[in-house]
This record gives sequence, C-alpha cells and structure tokens, in this order.
Amino acid sequence: MHAREIRKGIQVIATVHWERRLFDSLIPLPDGTSYNAYLIRGSEGAALLDSTDPALHDDLMKQLEAVEHLDYVVSHHAEQDHSGTIPEVLARYPEAKLLCSKKAEDLLTTHLGVAASRIRVVEDGESISLGDKTLRFIYTPWVHWPETMVTYVPEDRCLFSCDFFGSHLATTDLYVTDKARVYEAAKRYYAEIMMPFRTVIQRNLDKIGECPFDVIAPSHGPVYDDPGFILDAYRDWVSPTMKNEVVLPYVSMHGSTERMVKHLINALARQGVTVHAFDLAVTDIGKLAIALVDAATLIVGTPTVHVGPHPAVYYAAHLANLLRPKLKYAAIVGSYGWSSKAIEQIAGLIPNLKVNVLGTVLHKGAPTAETYAKLDDLAAAVAKAHHEDDQVAT
Ligand code: FEO
Repeated sequence: MHAREIRKGIQVIATVHWERRLFDSLIPLPDGTSYNAYLIRGSEGAALLDSTDPALHDDLMKQLEAVEHLDYVVSHHAEQDHSGTIPEVLARYPEAKLLCSKKAEDLLTTHLGVAASRIRVVEDGESISLGDKTLRFIYTPWVHWPETMVTYVPEDRCLFSCDFFGSHLATTDLYVTDKARVYEAAKRYYAEIMMPFRTVIQRNLDKIGECPFDVIAPSHGPVYDDPGFILDAYRDWVSPTMKNEVVLPYVSMHGSTERMVKHLINALARQGVTVHAFDLAVTDIGKLAIALVDAATLIVGTPTVHVGPHPAVYYAAHLANLLRPKLKYAAIVGSYGWSSKAIEQIAGLIPNLKVNVLGTVLHKGAPTAETYAKLDDLAAAVAKAHHEDDQVAT
C-alpha cells in the first residue's frame, strides 16, 4: 500500500494482510485483516501512531522511506500486531521517544525488548504539542489489554482508537464504503476480544464521548468518516438489553443428539424465539461468538463421550465462559449410551456465566416421544423467561 492522507498532515499507513486466516492461533479471519499506523505531521514535530505486525514490517518501513525525522512514536497497545515493528522503527529513528501508557511500559520492555530509556510514559489526559496539532492521550483500558489508550487530535477532530472500533478486514478502501460488511467484521472483532470487558468499554465510550470528533481512525479495517454508525453499534453491544434469541452450539455422533436439537429448534421457533444453531463439527467459532453478543439464552447440545460431553462441546463451553456474554439463561440437552456426567461437567465449565438453568434434557439412546415432550416444555420455558424479563426485547 501507499500512504494516504485523511486530513492535512495526517496520513494512514496501512499494511494489508490479505492472506491471514487466523489470529492468535485462535480467531478465524475469513476476510484477512489490516494494520493501520498513522503519520501526523505538525508545524513543529512529527509522530507515528502504532506500527504493524512483524510479518508486514517491510511494507511499513517502505512507506516510511520519505520520512526523515520522527519526534515521537506512540504505542496505543503493546500487542505485536501494532507494536511488533516498533523496535525496528525506533532503530531507524534514534531521536524518537516512544510514548505509551503507564501499564504499557512494562509490556513493551518485556514483550518487545524496547529499551526503557526510549520510553516516555504519558498520563491519562496529557497533551503533547506538535505545533499546530496536539496529541491528547486518553486511557481506555481493557480494549482489550490493560494498557490500551487512544489519541485525540482536537484540531482535526480525529480519534485514533487502535483496536477499539476496529474490524478485521483486508481492504483497499480508505473509508467505510460497505457498512453491512464492516458492521459484521467489527461485531466479530468485538465478540472475540472485547466482549469480556463490556462494562469497562461502556465507561470508555462515555469517556471518549467528551471529545468532539468527526473521524474514528482505528488500527484494523477502514476509517470511519461517519462515526455515529460504529458508536451506535458499540452502545448496542455493551448495553444490558438482550434479544429474544437462543444460541445453540451442538455436536452429534450417531444422530440422537441431532434429532433432539432439530426438534428443539422447531419448538423454539414455534414459540417465537430466534435460534442460532451451530454444528460444532464444522462451525466457524467467530460466527458463534457474534451470536453470543445479543442472545438471552445458551443451550448446549452434546452426546456423551466417555461419560463426559463431546470435546468440541468442552471447547465451545470454555470459549463462551471466557467471552462472558450478557446472556441470562441456559439449558443442556443431549444423549448418552449407558451413563453420563455431561451436565455436571458442562456446568463446571461455565462459572463466569451467571445464568439461570431453565432445564436439562439428557436421554439414554434414541429420543422418544417423551424426550420430545420434554424438549417442547423446555422451549416453552425459554419463551416464558424471555417474555417475563424486562432486559429481553421480545
Ligand atoms: Fe489488534 Fe489487540 O491487537
């Protein structure tokens, strides 16, 4: 890519990772991703905000070839996809100071080997002048590491938000052009890494709301020149309101659990409840995470493998526990051959989810008319709980 101007004296230096399909060896990236650094030139100084993933360091350094001097490099977030190339940038610009939050100082030295002498910690709310442009640093912790902060440039009404509001999209678009596509990618990103910190993100939204900005420039995905769209989305995702929806991850080995799940899906649909079902044998866990953002209820469907739940269910239950979605209700359904501790073991996997268990239906062998009747009762209990809960929009 080439450097592109978003405001006079402000360039986005994007590096696009078209072929990346997994982040943290965990998170699927169906559309690749991008890492945006920003070059800000004021009348009396220049700063580079963030860098890029080490895999694309050549692309970043090439775009900086014409830049002879930097006064500052800013690390909003010490994770390697934004700060991993900072040591190379600091070597190229020995005069530059690295600005970061107090908690980032330790992470940048221990994770990336940055010399402490190169670092200058900035306080929450502190400003640094570049002449006719000001960098104002705002601590926004836990989006999604403890050290995260954003930079506000009041003269240009631009907010540089790093991961906050980002979307994993490999694109040549400078600004958002396809809102539906960016919404999906940003929601996936929120679900996978931000959702556990919903409460603090709400406070961060209030905090940045004190800055009048026209542009949000994140470090993943396109720039928002209509920031109301992504702000509204975030406010919705972090709000306590849930939707009349069930997320139903399941797996089946010989068809009994699948027959139960399919019956339950129909029963819930008859009750007016929307179901997002995921066959864990083939699903994209990012889709599962997205569905967890809004749902009021989680129902797990599992066969029994050596007395416990299927390993794929272990994984999905553990993931849901880590992501701490706002759901309030849960149930477990499934089958077993001769004995099972699946319910107890799944319950032990989700201590972070403060849910009311609306029922369990565990059947020995192939489901019978009695099994299906119990599933109908469960569907009715889910619909009733949703209707009686003021926080569920029905
Ligand atoms: Fe995009 Fe948390 O790094």
